Amino acid sequence: MDKAKRKAIIAGNWKMNKTPSEAKALLGEIIPLVADADCEVIACVPYVDLAAAIDATAGTNVKIGAENCHWAESGAFTGEISTGMLKEVGVEYVVLGHSERRQYFGETDETVNKRTKAALAAGLKPIVCVGELLWERECNITEEVIARQIKLDLWDVSKEELKNVVIAYEPVWAIGTGKTATADQAEEVCAFIRAQLAKLYDQDAADAVTIQYGGSMNDQNADELVSKTNVDGGLIGGASLVAEKFAAIVKAASK
Ligand code: 13P
Repeated sequence: MDKAKRKAIIAGNWKMNKTPSEAKALLGEIIPLVADADCEVIACVPYVDLAAAIDATAGTNVKIGAENCHWAESGAFTGEISTGMLKEVGVEYVVLGHSERRQYFGETDETVNKRTKAALAAGLKPIVCVGELLWERECNITEEVIARQIKLDLWDVSKEELKNVVIAYEPVWAIGTGKTATADQAEEVCAFIRAQLAKLYDQDAADAVTIQYGGSMNDQNADELVSKTNVDGGLIGGASLVAEKFAAIVKAASK
């Protein structure tokens, strides 16, 4: 399938940054800079910023995502947020299985899978993050790690549901470190992910999935990364908090 037929998506992952008023101000800067984007533009923001962000982006081409969700509809899960809560405020996307959740908050492939299925059932579009640790890359088991994550995180996700899934390849060693995977390294793993999807589903289904790269992607390296056949955009941390940098990445993906 021609890469041009796949939807390129540039998504900001704001992580634990920006209060609601700061979110409104940043989106106010971003919106005019990305108004003519020829790719999908998303800002995934902290829960308390969602309402302000959805209000600020109404009628624009910027979509809003959350950074996690729980799998239960409701119940005794202190501190968690349900898919229904996200839907009601107008959220469209949700980041799941981010390496920071896996590293610091005990997220496992099993819980990522539960969250993914719940998000899909609620009509949210999950951005499912996978990626290897530096040690795993050095031990030459990147493909095993990625294959396992893809298989487990998407267990019991149907071919029909896969149409609403975005995969983000985020090598853990490249996140927030300033150390970007080379465009060839990103392409190699994104192509491997697509091959795994083709095995689990079929080639047509795999060809239609947007696979993003994430990890120190910025206005300087975005052009080369998104030019790769299997890299369909990016999930951006630090650079998504600076309007001009984020807009430059959106521009790179719009070519
Ligand atoms: P950085 O772009 O800050 O490396 O973060 C990447 C990331 O984790 C996006 O989800």
